[in-house]
Amino acid sequence: MPEAHSLPRLFPQPDEIPQAYRLGAAQEQREYLVDGRLEQWAGPLAEVRSPVYLHTAEGDQQVVLGATPRLDANAALSAMDAAVRAYDKGRGVWPTLRVAERIGYVEGFLSRMRLQREAVVNLLMWEIGKNLKDAQKEFDRTCDYIVDTINALKDLDRRSSRFELEQGTLGQIRRVPLGVALCMGPYNYPLNETFTTLIPALIMGNTVVFKPAKFGVLLIRPLLEAFRDSFPAGVINVIYGSGRETVTALMQSGLIDIFAFIGTHKAAAELKKLHPKPHRLRSALGLDAKNPGIVLADADLPNAVEEAVTGALSFNGQRCTALKILFVHRSIAQAFTEQFCARLASLKPGMPWEDGVQLTPLPEAGKPDYLASLVSDALDKGAHVANPGGGAVRASFFYPAVLYPVDARMRVYHEEQFGPVVPIVPFDEIDEVIDYVLESQYGQQLSLFGKDPALIGRLVDTFANQVGRINLNAQCQRGPDQYPFNGRKDSAEGTLSVHDALRTFSIRTLVATRFNPANQQLVSDILHERRSSFLTTDYLF
Ligand code: G3H
Repeated sequence: MPEAHSLPRLFPQPDEIPQAYRLGAAQEQREYLVDGRLEQWAGPLAEVRSPVYLHTAEGDQQVVLGATPRLDANAALSAMDAAVRAYDKGRGVWPTLRVAERIGYVEGFLSRMRLQREAVVNLLMWEIGKNLKDAQKEFDRTCDYIVDTINALKDLDRRSSRFELEQGTLGQIRRVPLGVALCMGPYNYPLNETFTTLIPALIMGNTVVFKPAKFGVLLIRPLLEAFRDSFPAGVINVIYGSGRETVTALMQSGLIDIFAFIGTHKAAAELKKLHPKPHRLRSALGLDAKNPGIVLADADLPNAVEEAVTGALSFNGQRCTALKILFVHRSIAQAFTEQFCARLASLKPGMPWEDGVQLTPLPEAGKPDYLASLVSDALDKGAHVANPGGGAVRASFFYPAVLYPVDARMRVYHEEQFGPVVPIVPFDEIDEVIDYVLESQYGQQLSLFGKDPALIGRLVDTFANQVGRINLNAQCQRGPDQYPFNGRKDSAEGTLSVHDALRTFSIRTLVATRFNPANQQLVSDILHERRSSFLTTDYLF
C-alpha cells in the first residue's frame, strides 16, 4: 500500500491559507438558545477539531476550531420545557397563528440567514472538510428549500381554504401541527439536512428543539441570533452536547411528539425505545444505506464511469446516497475498473478552499483507520487495490481505494463504509445482484446502467419494491427536493420532499357539520366576522 509520503503537499502551512478563509482565534461558544434567550453555559465544553491539519516544523498539527457547550440533561430539559410552553398544548401563539403570519416569520428568518452565508460556508469547510463549491451549494440549496417550502405551503393552504360537501356533510380540512419536534441532523449535511426537517416542522406550527450534528456545530452559531430574533420565544430552541446525555432525557420525558433524525438505524431504534408512549411519537428518519450501482454488459461505459466516480466519491463518499458498492458485468469489469481508476486519478486532493479540489480530509477521528481495516480485510480475502496510491493515509486524509474483485466474504461487501473506499464486484448472472438487493438490510436507492429496454424494464419492476428510487444511467441522489426521498428496511422511516415534509410535520383536522340552514348560517357568520383562524376562506397570495 502507498505510504503517507505520496501526499507530500496536502496540508498547508499557516501562511498558505488564503486570507478570505482564515478563521482567526478559536471560538469558545458558551451560548445556547432557550425560550428566546441566548443562555450562557458555565459547565464543560466539547472541543471542536477540524479535519484540516497544518504543516509545521513539528509535523502535522490538527487545527482546533474552538469549543461548544456540553449541556447536561437538565439544560436540555429546560429547552424542551420552553418548547412545550410555547406550544401550550396547541393553544400557544405559534400553533394558532394564521399560515400567512407564520410564513412571514420564516421569511424574516430567511433574510437574516442569507446574511450569514460567508460565515456558514467557511465553517462548513473548516468543520467537515466540504469543498468550497459544495459548501456554497449546501447553503444556497437550503435557502432554496425554504423558499420552495413557503410556496408549497401557500399552495396547500389555498387548497384548504375551500369547503367540501360530501353526502350532506359540509367540511373544511386543514393541516395543523403535532406538537414539539426534536430535530437532529447528520454531519455530512449539517445545515441542509437538518433544515429540511426543522423548517417544515416550524412552518407547520410545531415548536422545536434542535440539536446540531456531531460535526458542523459551530456553523450554527452565526444563525442563533437570527433564530432568536425571528420567532416568538420558545418556538425554536438550540441545544448542544452529547446525545447520550441530552437526547436520552428528552425522549424519556415523553414530551417529544415528533422525532426527526438523520443518522444510524441503531441510534434511531435505541432513542425511539426510550419514549414512554411510542404510539404518540411520529418519526421522520433518514438512516443507513448501501446503494448499489449496477453496470450491465451493454452500459455506456464513459457515462457509467463518470456517474459512478461522482456517485461514489463526491464529498469523499460521505453521503447517505453515495454509491457504496458497484456490481459490474464481468465482460466489462476490467475496462470499467481501469477507466474508473483513470478518472479517479484526475480528482484533486487538497484543502476545501482550493480551486477544483474534490478530495478532502475526513472529520471523523478514527475514520482512516476504519477504512484501512476494510481495505486490509478485502486484501486478505483476495481483492487488490486497483488504483495507484489507493488507501494512502495522511492524518485525517484517506486517498480513495478502489477494491477489485470484491465478493461476499469481505466486510466491505456488507458494511456501509461512508467514506472513500470503492468496492467493485464482478458478476456473471444478474440474479447474483438481484439477490444482493433482496437480502440487503438497506433499501434506499440504486443505480442501473444499461441500454436494453427488456432487461432494464424487468429490473425496474423487480427493484421497485425494494428501494425508494431507481436511477437509470445516473448516480443516486436526493435532489431535486421536490421528489420523494425515502427508503425501505433499515434505511428510513417516512418520506421527505418539499411536499411530503409539510405533511410529515402535521396532521389533517376536519371541521364538519350537517348541511342545513342553521349550520350554514353559523359557518357563514364565523367566516364573515373572522372568528376563526381555522375556519376561513382567505386566499393566500
Ligand atoms: O447524506 C444524504 C443526503 O441526503 C444526500 O443528499 O444526494 O443531495 O447528496 P445528496
